[in-house]
Amino acid sequence: MAAPAKTAAPKAAPKKAPAPKASAKAATASTGKGAGTNAAVDIQPILNQQNHAPAPTQRYGTVSQRLPIGLDEATRQKSVTMLNQLLADTITLRDMYKKHHWQVVGPTFYQLHLLYDKHYEEQATLVDTIAERIQILGGVAVAMAHDVAELTSLPRIPRDREEAPIQVSRLLSAHQSILKNCHDYAKKADDSGDDGTNDLIVSDLMRTNEMQVWFVSEHVVDSPLTRAE
Ligand SMILES: [Fe+2]
Repeated sequence: MAAPAKTAAPKAAPKKAPAPKASAKAATASTGKGAGTNAAVDIQPILNQQNHAPAPTQRYGTVSQRLPIGLDEATRQKSVTMLNQLLADTITLRDMYKKHHWQVVGPTFYQLHLLYDKHYEEQATLVDTIAERIQILGGVAVAMAHDVAELTSLPRIPRDREEAPIQVSRLLSAHQSILKNCHDYAKKADDSGDDGTNDLIVSDLMRTNEMQVWFVSEHVVDSPLTRAE
């Protein structure tokens, strides 16, 4: 409640409430900004703060115990390390799908163009699921392309446009590599008692990757198109 200023309450004054303008002026006076100040100055963004950044809120590679999820630090650390590897590899596979979506040629263009994009979207969903699990565990998720390039276990592929069977072969090789890690990591997460990570790896990563392997593999079966041989 805005109390009228003591000095503005002479005995002779009627019961009238203070005029809104007067209290607005009082408020302005209390901020120390006089009439004529350009209000636009107050909404200027403070730019380039990264040039004087304080220490980061959390360093990559560390694991905090912020969230009470019933797991000890050693378990979290192990899971975060495994999940960051899967994250880097999944980001790489996701981007490989988009590359091939753009560059595919040949009689199966339409089929593969659409399929690659579907798989890209599914891999993008996995990326988010893995990254958020890392954050829940108290870790820091790897994110940027240059960091992913350093961390991924998948081999670098050429920038060049390649034939569809080569694209498919590269994708199947990447899926296989990720799935092998999934089997290994799921077991380790189970052994250390991190059921949530075990479930994510089995239910999300393994199921999605296995399904995609099926859909992609059937494109490189050398079967007749119109007449049985
Ligand atoms: Fe597209």
